[in-house]
Formats: sequence, C-alpha cells, structure tokens
Amino acid sequence: MPHIMITGGAGYIGSHTCVQLLNAGYDIIIADNFSNSKPEVVEKIERISDKKVKLYEADMRDFEKVCEIFGENEIEAVIHFAGLKAVGESCENPLEYYHNNICGTIELLRAMKKYSCKKIVFSSSATVYGTDNPVPYIEHYPTSATNPYGYSKVAIERILIDLAAADSEWGVCLLRYFNPIGADESGLIGEEPSGIPNNLFPYIARVAIDKLSHLNVFGDDYDTPDGTGIRDYIHVVDLAKGHLNALDYVLKNTGTQAVNLGTGKGTSVLELVAAFEKASGKKIEYKIAPRRAGDIAVCYADTKKAKQILNWQAESDIDKMCTDGWRFISA
Ligand code: NAD
Ligand code: WQD
Repeated sequence: MPHIMITGGAGYIGSHTCVQLLNAGYDIIIADNFSNSKPEVVEKIERISDKKVKLYEADMRDFEKVCEIFGENEIEAVIHFAGLKAVGESCENPLEYYHNNICGTIELLRAMKKYSCKKIVFSSSATVYGTDNPVPYIEHYPTSATNPYGYSKVAIERILIDLAAADSEWGVCLLRYFNPIGADESGLIGEEPSGIPNNLFPYIARVAIDKLSHLNVFGDDYDTPDGTGIRDYIHVVDLAKGHLNALDYVLKNTGTQAVNLGTGKGTSVLELVAAFEKASGKKIEYKIAPRRAGDIAVCYADTKKAKQILNWQAESDIDKMCTDGWRFISA
C-alpha cells in the first residue's frame, strides 16, 4: 500500500499536517529523530485522527536508516519538515545547522533517488526573500538570506531546483511558509518551544501563563501604522491543509514550483498582542525594546500563485489563530 513519508512529522507543523493527511485518507509514515519533539505527539496525532501511524525514529543524515525505511515500505512521496529552525541558534552554531538541514536533505534525496521516489514537498520559508524585495513577496523574486538558518533554506531550494532540472521525473514543491501560529482545535497538539521562545506568538503565550513577566516589543519606530513590525501570521491548520494540495500537485506534475503559504494580510506586533488579549482574557504586559538585529519592517505574501496552481487559500483570521493557540497553551 503506498504511503506518504513525513520527515519531522512529530514537530509543530508536521504534526498538524499528519492529522490533515490522515483525515484525508492517506497512509503515512513519520520519520523523526525527536531532536525538537516528543514521541507522545505521535500518539496524540493518532488520537485526534483515530488512525494508526507508522513511526521510525530516524535521523535524516543517516543514509542507511533512511534507506531501511524506503526498503520496508512503498513510499510514493515525501513531505520534508525535518530541520532545525531557530535563527539565533543558527548564528551561534552554523555548522550544526548546515549539517542538519543541508546534509539531512541530501541524504534523504539520495535515498529517494535510490528507491525511485521522486516526489517531494519541502518546508521552505519566507526568510528566503531576504531583506531587499518589496512586499508583497512574489515567488519569482530573487532569494537571499541574513543568517545560516535562512541560507540553509536557500541552499536546499537550489539543490531541489537543480535535481529536478537534471532529472525530469522529479516533482518538487518548495512551500514558503510565512508566520505559522495557533493550534489544532482539539487543543492536543501545538507549538512547544523548549527554553525561552524566539518567536512572537509563543513568547506572548508564556507571558499569558505568567512564565515570563512581559513581552519585549522589538522596535516601535518602523515605518508602519503603529511603528511595530508587520508579519503575515497564518493558522497552522490552514498551513497544514496547503500541504495536501501541494502533495496532490507533485503527484500529478514534474518540475519545481515555489509557492507562498501565507494569508496575504499583515498584522503588527501590537495588533497581535491585542487579539491575543481578546482571545485569552489575559493582560499581556509589554515594554518597547530596541529593534532586533536582522528584522525587517514588513513581510507578507502574494497569495495568487497558491490559489492558481494549488487551488489553496488560508481561511482563518487572527482571532481564530489566537483562540486555538490559547486553547492549547492554557491546557
Ligand atoms: P519543529 O522543530 O517543531 O519540527 C521539526 C521536526 O524535525 C522536529 O520534530 C525535529 O525533531 C525533527 N528533526 C530535526 N532535525 C531532524 C533530522 N536531522 N532528522 C530527523 N528529524 C529531524 O519545527 P516546525 O516549526 O514544525 O518546522 C518544520 C519545518 O518548517 C522546518 O524545516 C522549518 O525550518 C520550516 N519552517 C518553520 C517555520 C516556523 O515558523 N515554524 C517557518 C518557516 C519554515
Ligand atoms: C515576528 C515579529 C519581531 C519576538 C522568524 C524567522 C523566520 C520564520 C519565522 C522559520 C517581528 C517581533 C518577536 C519578541 C517582538 N521561521 N517580536 N518580540 O522574525 O518574522 O520570522 O520566524 O522559517 O525565518 O526569522 O518571526 O515571531 O520572531 O517575529 O517584538 O519577543 O514580532 O520583531 O516584528 P519573524 P518572529
């Protein structure tokens, strides 16, 4: 029976995508080294979907192990989430980031090639638009990066483009996520960062449950209506659903397509704080702090290509993202 392999399927976005795939009737295999997730998440995925998942504890850099998974199963496509994602950490430990993200992807692709599985959906990021493109970001814009994490995404995109150019049997979709937040409505799975969060939403959440005293708002002097940074927050369940459409696309097409997964709408830091306060009934204390190095003022997606080629668009608004995120956090 054909399966879809989900690398990093126990992680934040991967787990939500697994639920959507199972609900849609796919048989899936999760391969994860649990470097940033826990095996219990897989049980929760099974509970939410009332379906069974085949699980391998595997590091993508371990070619033999990845081949073992392909040898034991009929895998028709891979959705590749496995990677490290903390921007600051990538600056402190670039070798670990390049090794994990780039070498892990290369070993996975070598195994896929060996077993003639040539369909892949890859977790890229809006970070590949760098700092010089105008908003909204359109997929044909040049890519660049400002940190090792971002460069690892730029490099992997390049590797996949070259691979599909050299062998016309490959079907590749590079999904460029904007800022995923929120959680599954069950409240069972969500984002669980270890240590002090880097990203805005989990940071606000920690303030709401009194684990942190206040939010530092990184700059209120940007050229935006309230002076704070604007981002394109997208409900993680909408994002997960986009993977089903991308999977369908690569199964039916060859070549490479880069596609934005965002809402096309921008929300400022203070607007997100207000929406979270409304959803949670909690007061979020904040202080204005200096700008964070590497941040840009405004980032949001052009969403036309996703509609055109994937027939997908985001549905949830910021209030629902906060309500669903809060349900997970407060549980
Ligand atoms: P996450 O850390 O929650 O999930 C990643 C999963 O991959 C984890 O379960 C981790 O244990 C696993 N993993 C890491 N390295 C591995 C390896 N070498 N072999 C096997 N498993 C490995 O992160 P996430 O937020 O779910 O992100 C998923 C993907 O989406 C990542 O590639 C990330 O770079 C990308 N992305 C995330 C965001 C975001 O804001 N969360 C935005 C854009 C892109
Ligand atoms: C959002 C806004 C901050 C924290 C990062 C990565 C990107 C992608 C998603 C993976 C900005 C402000 C934040 C805080 C704040 N990840 N902020 N106080 O920077 O858009 O993107 O995560 O691919 O690659 O760079 O997201 O959530 O960190 O910040 O004021 O404590 O919130 O300045 O305006 P970002 P973020």
